[in-house]
Amino acid sequence: MSGATRIGVAGAGLIGRRHIDLVAASSDCALAGIADPSPEAKAFAEAQGIAWYGDHRALLEREKPDGMIIASPNALHLSMALDCVAHGVPALVEKPVTDTVAAALRLCEAARRSGVPVLVGHHRRHNPRINAIRDKVGGGEIGQLTAVVGLWLLKKPDDYFEVGRREIGGGPLLINLVHDIDNLRFICGEIAEVQAMTSHKARGFAVEDTAGLLLKFAGGAIGTVTLSDATPAPWSWELSSGENGAYPKQDQPCYLFAGTRGSLSVPTMELWSYPDEGGWYAPLSRTAVDVPAADPLVEQLRHFCAVIAGREAPLISAKDATGTLAVVEAVREAAVTGNRVSPARIMEQVA
Ligand SMILES: NC(=O)c1ccc[n+]([C@@H]2O[C@H](COP(=O)([O-])OP(=O)(O)OC[C@H]3O[C@@H](n4cnc5c(N)ncnc54)[C@H](O)[C@@H]3O)[C@@H](O)[C@H]2O)c1
Repeated sequence: MSGATRIGVAGAGLIGRRHIDLVAASSDCALAGIADPSPEAKAFAEAQGIAWYGDHRALLEREKPDGMIIASPNALHLSMALDCVAHGVPALVEKPVTDTVAAALRLCEAARRSGVPVLVGHHRRHNPRINAIRDKVGGGEIGQLTAVVGLWLLKKPDDYFEVGRREIGGGPLLINLVHDIDNLRFICGEIAEVQAMTSHKARGFAVEDTAGLLLKFAGGAIGTVTLSDATPAPWSWELSSGENGAYPKQDQPCYLFAGTRGSLSVPTMELWSYPDEGGWYAPLSRTAVDVPAADPLVEQLRHFCAVIAGREAPLISAKDATGTLAVVEAVREAAVTGNRVSPARIMEQVA
């Protein structure tokens, strides 16, 4: 451990602990301390011999970290990130960038004015597989993109909902779909319009458990995404990608990218095409695409250290992540109103 780059972590819950472990294991950086007012976090810090603060501002002032990871509840992201920017400390803010587009735009403005880099934790973009898919889809290997199918079908255990996740905002749109929307924006380009329907019939909570989306990409392709957190099923990035060892990996696709010359199943990485430009009577060829796997959280931390050192610009800036959040807000609005909603219009309205 070199200890050259000192990183603080605000919020030592589920994902915060993973960041803490990764920083501790990294040769690029060292832990400057954690900020989390919960008794569990304090006990954890004491047991690990880590400097503990009940307030992130005290950590910023006393430890003077080189960078800060913000892994607190969404509603705290804005104020914590603004404090980092005010102290000139680059921040890695967990996804979603903030809880609303209006809040995210405030952060974008603060980051722009100060020049302090803000990286957002849409960590899947650091997965080499996502980058390979982007190269194939965007690079023309499957021809012109015509259609995209996204599936996010799985079962969350019932006790997951016992801790404040039954209300609007605690469901799969903001917590999970935001990852898939970010993947799709990164791979296929901007989403110009959305239509959506949601249902809470399976679990009966205020928050949605199931949704269907229709997406129009700026490049002209049409996408659908179907999600439900109330069904035993293998089709989701979480279970299909093997990215997070907490979920038993399933050898099933969760995205299909269809182009005029071929199609790609992901993350199963099978490329389908007609060798001789044939049609449905001809045999289809199926080719496996070999892309080495890597832990995107490890790569994200390496990148954050490079951002802190000024060697790299944030791969996912606050502005870019605001675009992802705006799509999720557009989905919510479309589900409530039944209208086609433009994410760009949502950003213009609150700007
Ligand atoms: N990138 C990912 O895949 C991923 C996965 C899980 C969560 N997240 C995001 O990370 C964030 C945290 O989610 P989680 O699942 O770890 O939640 P969590 O509830 O497990 O942890 C949140 C922690 O923040 C602490 N906290 C509350 N108020 C605080 C304050 N004022 N200062 C400092 N800490 C405070 C809580 O005590 C808790 O320990 C959310 O924004 C979530 O969307 C991202």
